[in-house]
Amino acid sequence: MIIAIDGPAAAGKSTVARAVAQALELELLDTGAMYRAVAREALAQGIDPSDAEGCARVARSIRIAFDPQGKILVDGRPGEPAIRSEAVTRAVSAVSSHSGVRAAIVPLQRARALGDRGIVAEGRDIGSVVFPDADFKFFLTASPEVRAQRRAAEMGSPGRLAEIQDEIRRRDRLDSTREDSPLVQASDAMRIDTDDLDARGVAEAILAVVRGDPQKGREAALRNPTASRATLFYRLLYLLDRTFCRLWFRLKIEGLENIPRDSGALLAANHQSYLDILVVGASIPRHVTFVARDTLAEWWWLAFTMRQCGAILIQRGTSDRAALRAMAAHLSAGDLVAIYPEGTRTRDGRPGSFKGGAVMAARLAGVPIVPVGIRGGFQAWPRGRIIPWPKRIGVRFGTPIDPRVENARERLEEAVRGMIGDGSFASVPPAP
Ligand code: CDP
Repeated sequence: MIIAIDGPAAAGKSTVARAVAQALELELLDTGAMYRAVAREALAQGIDPSDAEGCARVARSIRIAFDPQGKILVDGRPGEPAIRSEAVTRAVSAVSSHSGVRAAIVPLQRARALGDRGIVAEGRDIGSVVFPDADFKFFLTASPEVRAQRRAAEMGSPGRLAEIQDEIRRRDRLDSTREDSPLVQASDAMRIDTDDLDARGVAEAILAVVRGDPQKGREAALRNPTASRATLFYRLLYLLDRTFCRLWFRLKIEGLENIPRDSGALLAANHQSYLDILVVGASIPRHVTFVARDTLAEWWWLAFTMRQCGAILIQRGTSDRAALRAMAAHLSAGDLVAIYPEGTRTRDGRPGSFKGGAVMAARLAGVPIVPVGIRGGFQAWPRGRIIPWPKRIGVRFGTPIDPRVENARERLEEAVRGMIGDGSFASVPPAP
């Protein structure tokens, strides 16, 4: 069996192909790695990526093989991580555009499919040129913005988003406009738009199709929860919110380093006033998915805002189980989810007892819980007042707690209490 997965850079092909190969016990073929190996060797030999004959010579002369895990070996040595360097990434599209290079590499790819195990091959021209008779063909896409975000997260360089996006667009252009085997969707490939879908969702959709249920595949592609992204609306609101909280409450933020930069975590905070959502949102320069009761959505503008910001609304009347599942799904997709486990605002500034749902959701998703202590919010906006006083508010993020440990709920409660004292801003000294 041959499964072809094509698509542009950072559409998630590698992760998905690996998951599919593993689930079906097929071999994995990363064809991009082969072109990368040629590009790297060409650079090492001082050959210009635009030199067609020089690059083709390199492609014919290096020995490419794969270890049992499917990792590339170049002249007997591991090709990773050198083939992923930025210099190679910049050069590879030019190198791979030469017909002489492709003529040397494509036969190696076809040879890999001769084994009796079957293969999952990912690249740009697998369904169109390398294996036009593949049993299944998929074309994964996503917008350049989303792909750039994924690549930036993968590289741990969120600050270079714009640069990465430019590079991805440049490579898209080169890969799609070259004469020999350009990046195209084969006419018989199933297209999966992964903007709103995480890798697991895509793999599930592909597996459903391969296992004989295309309808289920399509549904899987639509149904799966995804990591939420900060929409333009969210970002604008964040800037406004941050400015307001800084000026009006002189918001003090501590312990931001306890928040993972791009993986899932549950933020569990004490609940002092309606400001809690504003101050937690304003403190974190990442999208936060808030969990709220849908009774708040009785005001149309709040309902609109919460939808735009990707909040999880817990419907009145539905079981807590549904909310738990929604939270766990977002968490395992890599989201930050914020919840106020007391369920209701404090009456005296001190936190009440925490319900267990938060810990359960984090445990289901296998993500840490970050305790969040809010101080001063009760004094700034006690129940019954219409407009909040301009009093100081502090937000503290504590050391993450593993939800699997015994007494995780008690530990969480203790951590939050420890961070806020009696709940007023001045009750505890600044964190060291
Ligand atoms: O991982 P990433 O999406 O950045 O790219 P890759 O799959 O490692 O492929 C690197 C480059 O190799 C692509 O930009 C294409 O120029 C080229 N390539 C190709 O021409 N044909 C393929 N079947 C696979 C990759």
